[in-house]
Amino acid sequence: MNFELTEEQLAVQAAAREFAQKELKPGVIERDKHMTYPTEQIKMMGELGFLGMMVSPDYGGGGMDSVSYVLAIEEISKIDNSCSVIMSVNNSLVCWGLETYGNESQKAKYLPKLASGEWIGAFCLSEPEAGSDATSQRTTAIDMGDHYLINGTKNWITNGSSSKLHLVVAQSDVDKGHKGINVFIVEADSDGVTVGGKEDKLGIRSSDTHTIMYTDVKVPKENRIGVDGFGFKFAMKVLGGGRIGIAAQALGIAGGAYELATAYSKERAAFGKPISQHQAIAFKLADMATDIEAAKLLVYRAAWLKDMGMDYTMASSMAKVFASEAAMKHTVEAVQVHGGYGFVKEYHVERLMRDAKITQIYEGTSEIQRIVISREIIKNNNLYVPIFSSELSKV
Ligand code: CAA
Repeated sequence: MNFELTEEQLAVQAAAREFAQKELKPGVIERDKHMTYPTEQIKMMGELGFLGMMVSPDYGGGGMDSVSYVLAIEEISKIDNSCSVIMSVNNSLVCWGLETYGNESQKAKYLPKLASGEWIGAFCLSEPEAGSDATSQRTTAIDMGDHYLINGTKNWITNGSSSKLHLVVAQSDVDKGHKGINVFIVEADSDGVTVGGKEDKLGIRSSDTHTIMYTDVKVPKENRIGVDGFGFKFAMKVLGGGRIGIAAQALGIAGGAYELATAYSKERAAFGKPISQHQAIAFKLADMATDIEAAKLLVYRAAWLKDMGMDYTMASSMAKVFASEAAMKHTVEAVQVHGGYGFVKEYHVERLMRDAKITQIYEGTSEIQRIVISREIIKNNNLYVPIFSSELSKV
């Protein structure tokens, strides 16, 4: 294996860990309880460069690689998953999508604001009747000559009320199916944009998830990203990278729960010794550690493939499905290790358990990841081995 973290990557990891412990941990229980948006914390994340990590310095970003980005998400997710989903959507769906597929004037106009956190972005794909089945878009974008007219409803939108820019996926020509879908940059204060109430969720409770309605919203022609009909491919490409971010979030959730369970089990005594020395608990820690190490390899490898400019479609889905299932399983176990204390908010593990669930759902459910993985297997009849070698990464 020829992979080790660089000094720069290790420094990013340490900075994110310190920030999460110092600035996110105090108040995280209260914000979760009252669904309070982390305004101050997101402002700090913008100032520290966590909101535009991979954006080129030419547009005010950090110019970092995807591996640094996942290390940062992982550390932040050990503590506050409302902050990490806001960060993930802004970085990997909105900024990356705009920088990779936008034209020069779109990038120059919007990226500096998004990379600094002055503006937050939202990715508006899901609809009441188009979740997993993303080609069934009902939102329409009709070509009116010098502008498009957008009508429709998007739901489950992360950053729904805090965002100033929406990337809206909409159908421009129903006869063309997914080839008639476009994606547009819509400024949130445009006439006809209405944001519904904040969803009261099981987890990631302080992030702002909303339904957004678009009624006769006029969008200038220059705000379409890519050529006519590129919108569905854009969504798929962007989600491929976004899923690496969510996989890193799930890895962080599992890692956070493991750290808490390990520390607690060494302190808590029962039947005359620390519970970590009872096999029933020690084996839970062993299983957690093993799955977390496996998830780490999958997540870092997916990010590394992206950095190498290699195909990461299957790797990102594998990382997401494995890490999110590990997060769900082991947060439940971490609560169990804590016994009654695990069931109360003060000990943090019940929140991580609630947060874990959404990682199996958003940016493609576990079932969708399995569709993507199995289609890639059938299409290419291959697997990646060994893990971090550019010469032999696919055989
Ligand atoms: N890259 C490039 N193109 C791709 C692609 C990829 N990874 N995956 C599919 N496509 C292309 C196909 O090649 C095809 O194009 P052609 O006809 O030109 O060949 C086109 O897209 C349609 O593909 P499929 O026929 O495979 O489409 P499908 O209807 O079978 O659906 C799917 C494919 C993978 C299931 C897709 O619908 C999907 O990913 N669904 C899940 C959507 C999702 O993840 N939603 C999350 C919402 S966003 C969110 O959660 C954000 C948030 O706020 C946190």
